Amino acid sequence: MPAATRREMMGGAMMLAMLAWGGRALADSDSMIEGLIGQMSVEEKAGQLTLMGDLLRLPETFAQVNPGYRETNGQKAEAEIRAGRLGGLFNGAGVAAGRRLQKVATEESRLKIPLIFGADVVHGFHTVFPIGLGEAASFEPELARRTARAAALEATAFGLHWTFAPMVDIARDQRWGRAAEGAGEDTLLGRLFAEARVKGFQGNALNDPDSLLACPKHMAAYGAVGAGMDYNSVELSDQTLYEVYLPPFRQAFLAGALSTMSGFNDINGVPASASKRLLTDVLRRQWGFKGFVVSDYESDLELVAHGYAKDERDAARLALLAGVDMSMASGLYIKHLPGLVADGSVPMSAVDESVRRVLFVKKALGLFDDPYRSLDPQKEATRSLTPATRALSREAGRKSIVLLKNDGGLLPLARTSRIALIGPFADDVANLNGPWAPFADRRVGVSLAEGIGARIQGPGELTVVKGCDIESPIPGGIDQALAAARGAEVILLAVGEGAAMSGEAQSRTAIVLPPDQQALVEAMAATGKPVVILLRSGRALALGGAARNARAILATWFLGTETGNAVADILFGDTSPSGRLPVSFPFESGQEPFYYNHRGTGRPEEAGQSSEYKARYRETSNAALFPFGHGLTYGDIRYDKPTVSAPTLPWDGTIRVSAKVTNAGKREAEEVVQLYIHDKVASLTRPVLELKGFEKVRLKPGESRLVTFAVTRRDLEFIGEDLVPVAEPGEFEVWICGSAASGVATTFTLASQ
Ligand code: NOJ
Repeated sequence: MPAATRREMMGGAMMLAMLAWGGRALADSDSMIEGLIGQMSVEEKAGQLTLMGDLLRLPETFAQVNPGYRETNGQKAEAEIRAGRLGGLFNGAGVAAGRRLQKVATEESRLKIPLIFGADVVHGFHTVFPIGLGEAASFEPELARRTARAAALEATAFGLHWTFAPMVDIARDQRWGRAAEGAGEDTLLGRLFAEARVKGFQGNALNDPDSLLACPKHMAAYGAVGAGMDYNSVELSDQTLYEVYLPPFRQAFLAGALSTMSGFNDINGVPASASKRLLTDVLRRQWGFKGFVVSDYESDLELVAHGYAKDERDAARLALLAGVDMSMASGLYIKHLPGLVADGSVPMSAVDESVRRVLFVKKALGLFDDPYRSLDPQKEATRSLTPATRALSREAGRKSIVLLKNDGGLLPLARTSRIALIGPFADDVANLNGPWAPFADRRVGVSLAEGIGARIQGPGELTVVKGCDIESPIPGGIDQALAAARGAEVILLAVGEGAAMSGEAQSRTAIVLPPDQQALVEAMAATGKPVVILLRSGRALALGGAARNARAILATWFLGTETGNAVADILFGDTSPSGRLPVSFPFESGQEPFYYNHRGTGRPEEAGQSSEYKARYRETSNAALFPFGHGLTYGDIRYDKPTVSAPTLPWDGTIRVSAKVTNAGKREAEEVVQLYIHDKVASLTRPVLELKGFEKVRLKPGESRLVTFAVTRRDLEFIGEDLVPVAEPGEFEVWICGSAASGVATTFTLASQ
């Protein structure tokens, strides 16, 4: 079929999908905004569409998170603001300088349009919460709403209006370093966390000075970069784009997000930052998005390197016409839009439309009524690292920890234990926060040694030894560790990735412990003492050797400010672990991309059957070492076989799926009860399992609870061949269980219409 015909068909299908989702009208016209646009020169219009790094406030912060910043842009900023050639600044903070800049904009520029101040406030500001991936392990979107709210309170007290968050990219390949920032591999989890974070950042009303405009990013499918290499090209079917990668964005916009960031990646040859299909057809025509699109850092300029634009002028034209309203960091719009309009390459109406969107959002933020909103010295002085935000960070840390393994019930430990805490993260503070915490002081935070040390009682003792550095040996390090281990009853190994090993541009070919750390783990295991791995990482890791064989393993991600206290809360059993994996842990790196909700194959590997000529690798089964959804508690959770309220789900009806869940253990536990389905026969092959719901339940020792999920046809829909959501009558398998390793299924049938 010719491409054009196919595109038209998809356009029609998208319109239908939009109607199904209920599109919203574009921004209503506004006389104040129209009045301003009527007075603006084309240069002033381009100025409103230009966002530059804020060297005038925190230059060192800015340099930490983005490469190749152009100094001159920062130095010239004040003059540029005065001339109306700059609409906003990013990655600076601080009230005094913010007030000074806002004064220049609103008193010394011709049209007195206020600036917008944005920044990467991704998982906390001064108080740091767990990385996005870690927090998703809580399976508690409400927690994410609360941490985003707390981050907004701190950030707005330091003069910010806008955060470049939440990061809502689905990550199915753990080699990709930015897996750390999102909510993992699952679309339902991704949607719910996207929604919660937007609500948390934006609060009840966007014009409240404590509200931070959200910017779900990176539109779209950035997580699907080939081979997990950051910035790489993306090859993706439309079905997977619509079904897996776009829904978290859609949900974020439904929750009220009024900006979004276009990605660095291309999709099937069209760079996202020049994709009219994504940024105009889907985002505005189908979804009725009223806010504005900002490019990622120079992603407009990068259209040249992609080989999509012939020069930077052409890049500015393509980006603007595709729907990128605001240019971040490249300065391309202020440089080229006036000329592009003058020679007719870009219609003035397109520029006006982008300006209209930006002014609409500035107005929604209340900046025209009070340009000094969020620039209150009183709040700045009092709203940082308060006891309440620290307590929330500790709670979030606790809830994010996943107990992957606990052979023989080694954990929880007695406070009277003699403990050797060994590893590069044993007494480390600099790596607590992980990637994207540029505003936090890296010297502030509770180390493992501090948190664990504070709990030891009576004859117990804690010996702390580094043993090796993150990616290099320490002379005599292993000997010192052995000496400490000899006197201990239990060895805690604080190993994993340093903060700089995940996040942007930190893709890895092998997602393993660095070799010197693995050597340390092997040496400690050889002592025969029980070993607990306290695993720090921004992604799933393929644990091997003694790390895999350790008696107990806790996934602790990057937990932020209260790391040591949160880990101690779990280690000593003050709280039973309740985190569950938002991402699958493979046996080997080479299994990546590796995710639980893959399609079936014609030759699936099946337990108890020969693995000859089956979909697997020579070296390993293609199962997960620790599956999505997995996580143990200090209780002993058992599931009965699920039952359905009726064998048939009527087309417009509801069916209830229930299972009895029991805590047969001796300690109270919180279990994340998960609902999965499998569409057995469909017009497009379906994933072997799909998460459709979950519920956290607290169970006392010996307690049973009947957990029930309602299922309707909507839960069974998928994106069909013509890109319209469909549910197809037929048989479905359904599980209620504790992870994607499932358990015993029951079945029901979706009746015809
Ligand atoms: C590039 C990153 O991709 C994006 O996530 C971030 O918001 C910008 N830099 C600004 O720092």
